[in-house]
Amino acid sequence: MGRLDGKVVLITGTAGGQGAAAARLFAQEGASVYGCDLDAERSEAVAHEIRAAGGEMQSTAPVDLADPVAAAEWVDGVAKLAGGIDVLYNNASAPRVGPFTEMSWDDWRFTLHNELDLIFTVTKAAWPHLIARGGGVVINTASVSAHRGATFIEQSGHGAAKGGVLAMTRHLAASGAQHGIRANSISPGLIVTPQIEPFLDEPGHPVHEMLHSHPLGRLGVPKDVATVALFLASDDAAYLNAVDIIVDGGQSLIS
Ligand SMILES: NC(=O)c1ccc[n+]([C@@H]2O[C@H](COP(=O)([O-])OP(=O)(O)OC[C@H]3O[C@@H](n4cnc5c(N)ncnc54)[C@H](O)[C@@H]3O)[C@@H](O)[C@H]2O)c1
Repeated sequence: MGRLDGKVVLITGTAGGQGAAAARLFAQEGASVYGCDLDAERSEAVAHEIRAAGGEMQSTAPVDLADPVAAAEWVDGVAKLAGGIDVLYNNASAPRVGPFTEMSWDDWRFTLHNELDLIFTVTKAAWPHLIARGGGVVINTASVSAHRGATFIEQSGHGAAKGGVLAMTRHLAASGAQHGIRANSISPGLIVTPQIEPFLDEPGHPVHEMLHSHPLGRLGVPKDVATVALFLASDDAAYLNAVDIIVDGGQSLIS
């Protein structure tokens, strides 16, 4: 028995590090996974790999989730095909980071649009399907950047957008409870994904300080987040609502 047997799960950003890891794990646990991404080639490669391993996954790409029409088309299309939606995992996002002194209005707007607006577009589209199903689960991806100022790389727009994700999640939990919808978030710390890997080869990059000061002696990997998402998606978390789980090995609290 898988922990997600028979569940229809939507995961956004399945071409990326954490989205792909969640798609693999959720499919292993019996879910029918529906992914999407801007990156068609990588997203389809992940779906192909999962199907080859005996799992169920379909990918739609390119889809720009920051566009409400495109987001609704994807969500409604999946709901029609699969007969409903049980879990929505809002994982995709794209920030612009860097010193506040160099952050332009365009960078700020880009980050809020591609990290916060797309939580609205996708969740708004999925909401009636979750209600029609008699309940379900929403998992949003925030960040430790929503909880503290970052010295690693300045990221005020990213932190503000993810702070919005935290607040939005609590309000979704409040709205959803009467419909049997639970909404929770995950705040990852630094997770080694394909975007971060090159920094590890760069001498003097601040990522090395993050590694050396880490209480557990290692940085996070996508599966560290995927296992927490699996827990939140499953009935094991049936009484968890409106919480944020920080997945950073304790780094933001004790180092
Ligand atoms: N990696 C980290 O250190 C870290 C830390 C804290 C939070 N997070 C969060 O975790 C989540 C997953 O990040 P990741 O590390 O796997 O990053 P990633 O860049 O590997 O994956 C993100 C995916 O989202 C897709 N995407 C971005 N904007 C999109 C849009 N408008 N429409 C459709 N797809 C879009 C990208 O194409 C990409 O494949 C993100 O929400 C990110 O903010 C990551």
